[in-house]
Amino acid sequence: MLRTIRSVVRLRRPERDRTTRRLRTAANVGDLRRLAKKRLPGGVFDYIDGGAEDEVTLGRNVEAFRRCEFRPRVLRGVAGVDPSTTLLGRQATFPYITAPVGFTRIADPDGELAVVRAAGRAGVPFTLSTMGTRSIEECAAVAGDGARLWFQVYVWHDRDHIRSLVERAAASGYEAIVLTVDLAVLGRRERDIRRGFILPPEIGPGTFLDAMRHPGWTLRLLRSEPIRFSSATGGDGTDAVSLAEHSAALFDPDLAWRDLEWLQSIWDGPIVLKGIQTVADARLAADAGVAAIAVSNHGGRQLDTAPVPLELLPDVVEAVGHRIEVICDGGVRRGSDIVKACALGATAVMAGRPHMYALGAAGERGVDHMLGLMRSGTESTMALVGATTVAELDPSLVRLPVG
Ligand code: GLV
Repeated sequence: MLRTIRSVVRLRRPERDRTTRRLRTAANVGDLRRLAKKRLPGGVFDYIDGGAEDEVTLGRNVEAFRRCEFRPRVLRGVAGVDPSTTLLGRQATFPYITAPVGFTRIADPDGELAVVRAAGRAGVPFTLSTMGTRSIEECAAVAGDGARLWFQVYVWHDRDHIRSLVERAAASGYEAIVLTVDLAVLGRRERDIRRGFILPPEIGPGTFLDAMRHPGWTLRLLRSEPIRFSSATGGDGTDAVSLAEHSAALFDPDLAWRDLEWLQSIWDGPIVLKGIQTVADARLAADAGVAAIAVSNHGGRQLDTAPVPLELLPDVVEAVGHRIEVICDGGVRRGSDIVKACALGATAVMAGRPHMYALGAAGERGVDHMLGLMRSGTESTMALVGATTVAELDPSLVRLPVG
């Protein structure tokens, strides 16, 4: 009780100072995660943090980066490290893309708008999820000059609705469509099942105490407009549903390669196929003419014990890297992880949890901070392994232990 009163009193102090102090102690994404865990209600944190079933894949995605060792070269003159790169034919200041994440506003009321602005300032592409809580147009309106917007879609029963979203994305200047193909049905997120977690989160008898323990989050939620899906159909998005219920109603489990052809028939720009988990499918994707694939197991949220992107990367890059761009998605928590993935042939990495932890920890400034850590970590790691450009990152600089 005393802690709750103290937190409410603390809320009166200028928000900016408190955020600055908080961020001063956040030296890495793990620190942002710990701050988010403290500031967000348990159900919200677990929805962001959790994975499918035993969370084996969730852990292995991260662990693979830890096990991967550098073979640094020295005396190479690394005074002018430049982590910039080209993604889908355009410049990015470093090889990072913010991954599509549904319901971003549960971490912070600005939600996707905060991430669009921060990604724009950092000079990396932002991907809006079809399960997003800010619309295609709202995100485009806050994107500054030169900001790069990608739009992610699933294959839903209602193809006409997907078509209209794709047309709206084109009209709003989005440069790429990301088609996620690893969610024919929703994975079993057992943390959410145990908590009976619903979206949007509600303050009711089951969550009242949790909400009172997190007064900052609760006040921000109560003061902001209701959280709702901005693109997904199914009511007006204000009815609380479990994600399992909602996705069962929307998603077409019959999705197949012909759906990619259909998407190509309605979208002229580059398509990124996200959720590739075998070399065989990477080859099919390249044959089908996509611009890029994201090797991804949906951050361990779908099929537990699925292949780990970093471990799959060398074989996928060998098979298709000369034809299409290969993005590594899953387990990225540091700049050194970005360097490892690029050394193994990735064009860039994609990550979702880091910006969600950052938003939960400190809102938009948290996302700026996180992207700054990713970029500076990339630069310093490049210097320490003896590479001044992303093109110089090659497999000779890392060792990925087998098994
Ligand atoms: C939706 O894509 C999720 O992973 O929750």
